[in-house]
Amino acid sequence: MLVASNRGPVSYTLDTDGEGGALRARRGGGGLVSGLSAIGPDARAVWVCAALGDGDREAVRRAGGGLLPDGDTGGQRVRMLDIDPAVHADAYNGIANSVLWFVHHMLYQTPLEPVYDAEFRRQWASYEAYNRAFAEALAEEAAEGAAVLVQDYHLCLAPGMLRALRPDLRIGHFSHTPWAPPDYFRLLPDDIAAALLNGMLGADRAAFLTRRWAAAFTACCTAVLGPDSLSDTTIGVHGLGADADFLRERAHRPDVTERMAALRAEIGAGRRTIVRVDRTELSKNIVRGLLAYRQLLDDHPEWRENVVHVAFAYPSRQDLAVYRDYTAEVRRVADDINSRYGTPGWTPVVLHVKDDFARSLAAYRLADVALVNPIRDGMNLVAKEVPVLSEEGCALVLSREAGAYEELRADAFTVNPYDVLETARALHEALSLGPEERADRAKRLAAAATALPPAQWFMDQLRALEELQPG
Ligand code: G6P
Repeated sequence: MLVASNRGPVSYTLDTDGEGGALRARRGGGGLVSGLSAIGPDARAVWVCAALGDGDREAVRRAGGGLLPDGDTGGQRVRMLDIDPAVHADAYNGIANSVLWFVHHMLYQTPLEPVYDAEFRRQWASYEAYNRAFAEALAEEAAEGAAVLVQDYHLCLAPGMLRALRPDLRIGHFSHTPWAPPDYFRLLPDDIAAALLNGMLGADRAAFLTRRWAAAFTACCTAVLGPDSLSDTTIGVHGLGADADFLRERAHRPDVTERMAALRAEIGAGRRTIVRVDRTELSKNIVRGLLAYRQLLDDHPEWRENVVHVAFAYPSRQDLAVYRDYTAEVRRVADDINSRYGTPGWTPVVLHVKDDFARSLAAYRLADVALVNPIRDGMNLVAKEVPVLSEEGCALVLSREAGAYEELRADAFTVNPYDVLETARALHEALSLGPEERADRAKRLAAAATALPPAQWFMDQLRALEELQPG
């Protein structure tokens, strides 16, 4: 069995001070890695991923292009592909993150964007080359009749390419993002829209996080390729849940407890806490979240001094100028709230931008309210993780555009993510909830959030794929 994804379960940094350049291995980030880490050290499974920086490339060189050392991967069998850095940059920053991510999250400001020009076509050629590199590596690695699970929007063409090389394989594709509705998807040039869909339909099975994204995909196939295009591919839905066992164990280690004490000191005694944890990602809607919090302080002065918004916005995709600008805007708005409302004893927004998993878990444990307000999100695991860990039972303010909405809506305060006034009202209601109702809701949220833990999510996909005839 093979898994293929751009980001793998491990990433390396090169410590240039060390003699010979010591390599440090770290766990990869993001929802995809959290879900797939459940594979664990299975001797039959190889995870094929891309080298993402100089540290990764050095690790590949030292491994002679073969499997990475066990000690770095927790026993998981991982093969990293050293794809030409310029090709990778065009495919990842150019096509995957600046085009496909924008299409599926509907992020374009359409009077000026997108512009599909000669530069875009050059990047598209790199996206094809990058997908071919994966298809060839998978074809080489796979035993007769093996199952291959290809992940996400970086690798839409790989299933079709792999099918051509190895008709014996069972190929699955899984999308960790939303899928755009046809009218928006068709912003893409016609030939490229068709190539992406045909590439994915090269899989025996294409699966999604929610029914909504699966329905959008089939609607795109019908609109772009015609109603018969879906006849050879099965569509699946697997709503990835939180890993309660892992989270509870990890969140009770001493490094998390230490960070709870530090956070409590930052928050101040007797105050409510509104927590959010995100990559600093355009689709996460962090700025409108801050504006809603500001509105709350305006509309309900009784919360001043009595609540703190703990916002962790970790660096992401900083090669892209729009992400750097967005990060600056998040800081600016947070500083503005602090200077306008703060007092000597109260900092209304505690913003941290340095990635720290243990501190995220500490914030989850302290949360009274979790704010998850993306403008569009494949699932959003934070919405599922906070209710599992919050000690007092947290209330959830949740965007109706997050995949998690399908499963959590009954016990959340749901909002239109663009409506700052509505979000402010939801924050007020969530903060005002009595302790019993809050605990009850949190219990039901946690149960819904953990209904399909990662190991089962993965096994369900594998089993469904193995039941199909290849091709
Ligand atoms: C989303 C995508 C994943 C991706 C993650 C982190 O969850 O669906 O494929 O790995 O974001 O983004 P990055 O660009 O840092 O890999």
